[in-house]
Amino acid sequence: MKPLIEVKNVRKIYRMGDEKVVALDNVSLEIYKGEIVCFLGTSGSGKSTFLNMVAGLEKPTRGEIYIGGIPIHKLNEEKVTLFRQKNIGFIFQAYHLLPMLTAVENVSLPLIFRGVEKKKRNKIAEKSLIDVGLKGYGNRKPTQMSGGQQQRVGIARALAGTPKIIFADEPTGNLDTATTKEVMALIVNQVRRHNQTLIIVTHDRSIATYADKVVTIQDGNILSVAVKDGVEKEQEEGEQKNEQ
Ligand SMILES: Nc1ncnc2c1ncn2[C@@H]1O[C@H](COP(=O)(O)OP(=O)(O)OP(=O)(O)O)[C@@H](O)[C@H]1O
Ligand SMILES: [Mg+2]
Repeated sequence: MKPLIEVKNVRKIYRMGDEKVVALDNVSLEIYKGEIVCFLGTSGSGKSTFLNMVAGLEKPTRGEIYIGGIPIHKLNEEKVTLFRQKNIGFIFQAYHLLPMLTAVENVSLPLIFRGVEKKKRNKIAEKSLIDVGLKGYGNRKPTQMSGGQQQRVGIARALAGTPKIIFADEPTGNLDTATTKEVMALIVNQVRRHNQTLIIVTHDRSIATYADKVVTIQDGNILSVAVKDGVEKEQEEGEQKNEQ
């Protein structure tokens, strides 16, 4: 099986005047379709930088990133934006909902960029809100909902139109333990149901229990990759086949 996402020797240096910050030193990783991958690392270890590179939001200083064989690091701004709109859903810590829009309008937003017409957009958005347990909340604005409910709108938005890949950056960072569990179960259920690929970055170790693959990152380097049994075997077999 070929990996869906291939990250090869990626380095990211930020320059601020004379100062150089090595945000990612030399990172290589393979992610397979349907995998739930958890990136664990302390603040400043390079988690968000990694997500931004793979999503094509920023260019690596060096190295290569392929998604489904497409060289993300080589695409120009316009192409990478289209690729992202078509294939990737985002869940953020701070929800990033637009305050003037209702829940339905927020959820339909990415579908506008994908060229879905209004009636269909609203239908998908309403279904997506039902999937996250927010039936009847479609007309509420973010300020009229709790933090957990706002995060569920954020999840509905990321999942609407079932993008191939979902990136979640500290999706439960603002939630209490009970809501964290609820929200994680929700994300994982949806992702499994549609065989989507999920990359979640967090410093919360309890999130790792939901993952197929746990990647530990420190000072811009991957320290370890722990793979749960079934998946690891599959990959080993795949690698052996490649070697033959
Ligand atoms: N635009 C930037 N300019 C300069 N330095 C940056 C920039 N973005 C990130 N960095 C630095 O790169 C390193 C990695 O940052 P990153 O945001 O990837 O960390 P993180 O693991 O996501 O941390 P957190 O858990 O706090 O979100 C940090 O030292 C940070 O200060
Ligand atoms: Mg971060």
